[in-house]
Amino acid sequence: MKLLIKGGRVIDPENHIDEIMDVLVADGRIEEIKKDIAIKGAEGKVIDANGKLVCPGFIDMHVHLREPGYEYKEDIASGTRAAAAGGFTTVCCMPNTDPVIDNAAVAAFVRERAAKSGVVNVFPIGAITKKQAGTEITEMAELLAAGCIALSDDGKPVTDAGVMRNALNYAKMFSLPVLSHCEEMSLVRDGQMHEGYYSTIYGLKGIPAEAEELMVNRDIILARLTAAHVHICHVSAQGSVEAIRAAKKQGINVTCEVTPHHLVLPDEIVGSYDADTKVNPPLRSEEHIAALHKALLDGTIDAIATDHAPHNRDSKDCEYDLAANGISGLETAVAVIMDRLVLKGILSIPQMVSLFTM
Ligand code: DOR
Ligand code: ZN
Ligand code: ZN
Repeated sequence: MKLLIKGGRVIDPENHIDEIMDVLVADGRIEEIKKDIAIKGAEGKVIDANGKLVCPGFIDMHVHLREPGYEYKEDIASGTRAAAAGGFTTVCCMPNTDPVIDNAAVAAFVRERAAKSGVVNVFPIGAITKKQAGTEITEMAELLAAGCIALSDDGKPVTDAGVMRNALNYAKMFSLPVLSHCEEMSLVRDGQMHEGYYSTIYGLKGIPAEAEELMVNRDIILARLTAAHVHICHVSAQGSVEAIRAAKKQGINVTCEVTPHHLVLPDEIVGSYDADTKVNPPLRSEEHIAALHKALLDGTIDAIATDHAPHNRDSKDCEYDLAANGISGLETAVAVIMDRLVLKGILSIPQMVSLFTM
């Protein structure tokens, strides 16, 4: 079966392509990309892509699909449909499920479910520590063999630096990146939103940007010590991107991602007391947002990832301090970036495609 996508603006950052061209697909594989590919008889389907963008499938390297254990929030069937609706063809799912993806059996279960009920590619991320308890590292070789492409205790930090060092040394042996959720819990405590002018006005306990910055710096130091690949999840603070920029200049193996919500939503909107604005790390102030934009443009930030974290209604329809953290992003991410960054001239279309695909 052949498919011809005609006359679209083909953008493929990996191969430095940005031109009006045709794409010929045969049996699900790209056969040819060039100008004016002839339509031969009726041997396939033709899509008129005039005025449209033709890009590689978008990848979201940080989502929560909630299966197994929290299917009342989301499952692999619904989460991958949300991904497809949003333009993503591949997602990497975090292991904070119940049970945690901390062994081969759970990783295999996720892959089997994805093959049966999923509609996009799903790559599981294995836990760094057993039960994400932060004390004993997982059997990483087993997780790799079962299809995990990275390791993370996302949802919480690995607070013990010695455990993190050990984990990085092992992860490096298997060339697995370690995705770090950075927060220094002794500064977070029961904070509800970004600490600053608005937390004072709204009477909500604050989480200082330094809680993130401190842990980002610790992990950069551990990346330097171990030469392992540390990837910082959902970077949200100015001090964090400044530290990552400096670390990259020194050749330390560190990368990072940013979410659409941290790029466009300021902490001021928490004043609605709508728990849909409650997320971890919290929405930051305008100066942090400006620093994230700068870091996105100068290559300090490597990817946009949604941290898609859906919840059931009861977890959100309640007092702000009782509500769960998390924003669902898969269906809206591309539209938000397009509308708020590309159409405002902050980001070019090829830059956007690159941040969603590489
Ligand atoms: O807001 C968040 N929600 N941040 C996290 O780190 C975890 C996530 C979740 O799993 O709900
Ligand atoms: Zn996280
Ligand atoms: Zn997450």
